[in-house]
This record gives sequence, structure tokens and C-alpha cells, in this order.
Amino acid sequence: MPAVNAWYRTFQFFFNLGARVLPWRKALPIKGAGAIKKIPGILAKDGVTRAMVVTDPGLMAAGIAPRILEVLQEQDMPYTLYSEVQPNPTTDMVNEIYDLYCSSGCNGFVAIGGGSSMDAAKGAAARVKRPRKTIQQFKGLFKVLGRIAPFVAVPTTAGTGSETTIAALITDSATHHKYSIMDLSLIPHYAILDPELTLGLPPHITSTTGMDALTHAVEAYLCWTYNTAESKRFALDATALIARNLELVYQDGGNVEARGEMLEAAYKAGFAFTRAGVGNIHAIAHTLGGLYNTPHGLANAVILPIVLEDYGTKVHGKLATLARVSGLADDTTPDEAAAKAFIWNIKYLNEHMQIPAGFDFIKDEDVEQMITWALKEANPLYPVPVIYNRERWRRVIEKIRV
Ligand SMILES: NC(=O)c1ccc[n+]([C@@H]2O[C@H](COP(=O)([O-])OP(=O)(O)OC[C@H]3O[C@@H](n4cnc5c(N)ncnc54)[C@H](O)[C@@H]3O)[C@@H](O)[C@H]2O)c1
Ligand SMILES: [Fe+2]
Repeated sequence: MPAVNAWYRTFQFFFNLGARVLPWRKALPIKGAGAIKKIPGILAKDGVTRAMVVTDPGLMAAGIAPRILEVLQEQDMPYTLYSEVQPNPTTDMVNEIYDLYCSSGCNGFVAIGGGSSMDAAKGAAARVKRPRKTIQQFKGLFKVLGRIAPFVAVPTTAGTGSETTIAALITDSATHHKYSIMDLSLIPHYAILDPELTLGLPPHITSTTGMDALTHAVEAYLCWTYNTAESKRFALDATALIARNLELVYQDGGNVEARGEMLEAAYKAGFAFTRAGVGNIHAIAHTLGGLYNTPHGLANAVILPIVLEDYGTKVHGKLATLARVSGLADDTTPDEAAAKAFIWNIKYLNEHMQIPAGFDFIKDEDVEQMITWALKEANPLYPVPVIYNRERWRRVIEKIRV
């Protein structure tokens, strides 16, 4: 093993020991159709007298955010609204939310949306906690520290799991570098898992966000260390739930039961990866989000089978287990065949859900920058099953390009 890889593994070994004594928690899940009605009561109980509601224009136009605003009004919970979040939220957006929060006297957050709205609100919550820091200064691990203002996450996609993760992904408005802020404080206090909010999610967002959740479960399960019995169980549960429900909700968005199970899958996959880490797939997906504004789930969906294939025999045992819980193989199927069936099924799902096999917009001149960012994001923190060097990254990126 090259010396640098040995150093990464040593780092991960000790990080794992340290992580085991950290005070991990989960966002308290409030589940079921109509769960949004409980939001004002939760806020009031936590002493919130004016909530900062963060959402995006699509959710306003679809009438989803307005439904929750109505609930707040009906139950006399004052709020200030920021509805300008865009996919791959930027440092500028976070600063706008922070300014509005301060100028209107808010003391808690309600983040309604996919990962973009939840992450933008988390970024603002970090700034509220440490007003002397710029949003760029939170990059990396454990820069927030301490309890943030009461934070209610209301996911409207079944994908990112941001409603229970330590992460917020923010793109620097100046450099286009998409970076993560990771801190236990950023785990929302409550996750409202109301399937009615996702019934109108268009098929292409349903599919790509669902593949994001699957990527979380897979990358968490494949990690070299960091996993606990609980994170492994959650990754397996999430994989099984997605295998059972993703095609169903893609074909029939109005299936409340399947939508509820997808929300549960995203939450469980979110917990799994926040504990066990993501990996090379996310590291490269983030570069596409920052450089080309590629939707995060779409980037993962395309990259997932390519990287799993590239990992080769190293991951066959674990992929075989994922195939078995997905109903794609049984105990008598040899690992290699089961692993291949799992990868084949991802390709089949992608094709069936009109997700392309590669991207044609990656520019030659960006490749070296992508590799630099991906290497830096993945190493030494992510306990990836196979450590990539520049050469191998170049080869894999060529396979992502069509
Ligand atoms: N914090 C984390 O742990 C974490 C994990 C994974 C990804 N992310 C980040 O989350 C972001 C992606 O989030 P996302 O995939 O959930 O998408 P998103 O939040 O960017 O939303 C995508 C689009 O879907 C629309 N939409 C959302 N819910 C809808 C609904 N119910 N009905 C109709 N339209 C709806 C939105 O209006 C938006 O236009 C990326 O920036 C990604 O990096 C964060
Ligand atoms: Fe993700």
C-alpha cells in the first residue's frame, strides 16, 4: 500500500475511535400524513416566537410551502419567509437568510424542501450560532459547536436525508467550489416525514432524489470503517425500502404508502451515511454540482454504477448482501453474481427512469480541477473501500463522460 494510503487508513482508524464517543443523535421523526399540523406546537414548545421559514420558488409555485404557511397562520405562529433558495445553494443565499433572520427577530427555523432548502437554512443556523464567522469559515468538520436555534426540517423530496444529517452542502458563489460543513449541531431537532408533501414530486425529481438516497445507503454500507451495528442496519433497511418502492413512486406518484416508505428510506440512509460517511461517488458528484449545477441526485445516479463496477471484487461481498436484501439474489447465489445483479439493477432502474448513462458537458479543462477537489473531499475523511489516486480518477471520469 502506498504510504499516503496507509496514512489515510491510520487517520480513519483513529477518527473512528474518536467518533464512537461523540454524542450522536437523530432528528426526532414526526411521521405520517398530516404531520405538518404539528409544526407550530413543536416550535412553541421549544420557545420559538417567530420562525424563519426557508424554502424555494418551486415549492411556493407547487402550493406545498403555502400549505405549511397556512398551518403556521392558523395556529398563530409568526414567521418570516425566504423563498429564493435555488438548487446547489450558495454562500450568498445563506447570507441573505441570515440577514433576514436577524433583521426580523426570528428565533428558530422551519426548512421546507429538498436538500437545497434544508442545507441553506442549516448554513444560516450556523451563522446565527457563530455570527463572527463567515459562512466559508465553517467548511469542514466541527466548526459550529453548541446547540443551534430550534430547527424543524420538512423534507419534500425523499433523497438527501439532510433532515437528520450533520451536513450542509454549500457552493461558494465566487469560486463555484461546493463544500461541506459537518457538525453534530447541524442535525435538525425534528424531521417532519409527511408523505402528502411528496405526492406531486415530478417523476424525474422522484427518480434522481431516490437514487441519491440509494447512493447514501450504498456508500455508507461499503465504507471501510466507521459503521456501527445501527448504521449498517439502517443502510440495509433503506436499500430494501428503495428496492421495493422507487419504481412504484416513479410510476404512480400518488401512492401515499410507497411515498411514506421512500421518506423513511431517505431518513434511514441519511442516518447511515452521516454516521458512516459517503465516498468517492459523492466526492465527484459534488464537483459536478458546483461546476455545472448538475442536480445532486442525477449526478449520483449516473456515477453510482460506474464507480461500483470500477471497485471490482473488493466490494463484491458487501454488494451481494445489498442484492440479497433487495430481493435480487438469495443465499445460494455466489457473491460475484449477486454483486453484478445489484449493479445491473441500478443500470436498469436508471434506464427505465430515463436517467442517462453519462454526461456530455464535462469540459476537458475542468477535469484536473475536479480530480483535485474530489481527492481533497474524499481523503482522508471518507473511509472509501478503494482509495483512488489521480490516475484512477481520470480513468473513472472518462467513463462518466459520453
Ligand atoms: N445535507 C446533506 O446531508 C445532503 C445530503 C445529500 C445531498 N445534499 C444536497 O442537497 C441538494 C439537493 O437536494 P434535493 O435533491 O432534495 O433537491 P433540491 O432541494 O435541489 O430540489 C430540487 C427541485 O425539486 C423541487 N421540489 C422539491 N420538492 C418538491 C415537491 N414535493 N414537489 C414538487 N417539486 C419539488 C424544488 O422546487 C427544486 O426545484 C444538493 O445541494 C445536495 O448536495 C445534502
Ligand atoms: Fe447525496
